[in-house]
Amino acid sequence: MSIKKVGVVGCGLMGHGIAQVAAQGGCTVVVFETAEAALAAGLGRIDKSLAKLAEKAAEKGGSFDAAGVRARITGTLAKADLADCDLVVEAIVENLDVKKTLFAELGKLCKPETIFASNTSSFPIAAMAEASGRPSRFVGLHFFNPVQLMKLVEVVRTDKTDAAVFEAARAFGVACGKTAIACKDTPGFVVNRLLVPYMSQALLMLERGDASAEDIDIAMKLGTGYPMGPIELTDYVGLDTTLSILEGWVKAHPNEPAFTIPKILASKVAEKKLGRKTGEGFYKWQGDKKA
Ligand code: 3HC
Repeated sequence: MSIKKVGVVGCGLMGHGIAQVAAQGGCTVVVFETAEAALAAGLGRIDKSLAKLAEKAAEKGGSFDAAGVRARITGTLAKADLADCDLVVEAIVENLDVKKTLFAELGKLCKPETIFASNTSSFPIAAMAEASGRPSRFVGLHFFNPVQLMKLVEVVRTDKTDAAVFEAARAFGVACGKTAIACKDTPGFVVNRLLVPYMSQALLMLERGDASAEDIDIAMKLGTGYPMGPIELTDYVGLDTTLSILEGWVKAHPNEPAFTIPKILASKVAEKKLGRKTGEGFYKWQGDKKA
């Protein structure tokens, strides 16, 4: 079962990166968006990233075929263009009902062999797998932000995932240049199950006044070698995304003490200070850099 043609639903923060690394891995990619402007913005991000990778390769005396990669990616506003894909990866808004509706539609639209994958951060893969009508051909493929640079993909199987489907999805992750780890369908899989409670504990420290945001971040960078501290990382991931993950978990697992919502997080989101994407969260941002 080899994956040659990949559909990506959503060309936003994660979707554009997934489309790009799939094309870098040699796949033909169709990336779907609902609006022309969103599609153009996502493809623009791919162009910028490819140009950066080519520049970096040239600096090191090597080469990178940015035009060749780009030629394998087509944008579309028509879902029907996904019908003959070997794999469709969903990277849309983190809303379980919206995702289930999408997969129910794709289940009817795509050829019977198509494998489905969700890039969800925190929702149960099994719920989307059931909605798709083909639970044995469904996995989680959880990439990390920025997809082009982060070297991991979590490959998530449910009780119903076919072994050959899991292997094909894992091989696809490796073709995308990632190290693939296997995980069961548990809240947050491996990374977010550890990372999100860590970020929320850092925000609780800030809320209590134990230390400043800057000192918490410096502590974790220099004390543990993390590339970003937890508060900068919350800004980087998005405060709304972090809050919505925690809200979903608190609702689904009310007795799990690791899942708590810091008031400081909810109040920043209410003020629309969502982090890097809005220019301000716990820090001020200019583009991808802290101001
Ligand atoms: N494509 C191509 N090149 C890129 C790029 C992209 N998308 N993004 C950045 N670069 C380039 C930069 O332009 C820069 O080039 P330069 O050296 O010529 O200036 C180079 O890559 C390095 O970037 P930075 O200068 O920003 O330097 P860093 O060394 O700090 O690397 C980072 C950036 C990789 C983001 C690093 O800070 C890091 O690893 N941070 C932690 C990120 C993390 O933890 N991500 C996971 C979030 S959790 C998640 O995604 C799960 C979700 O479900 C919530």
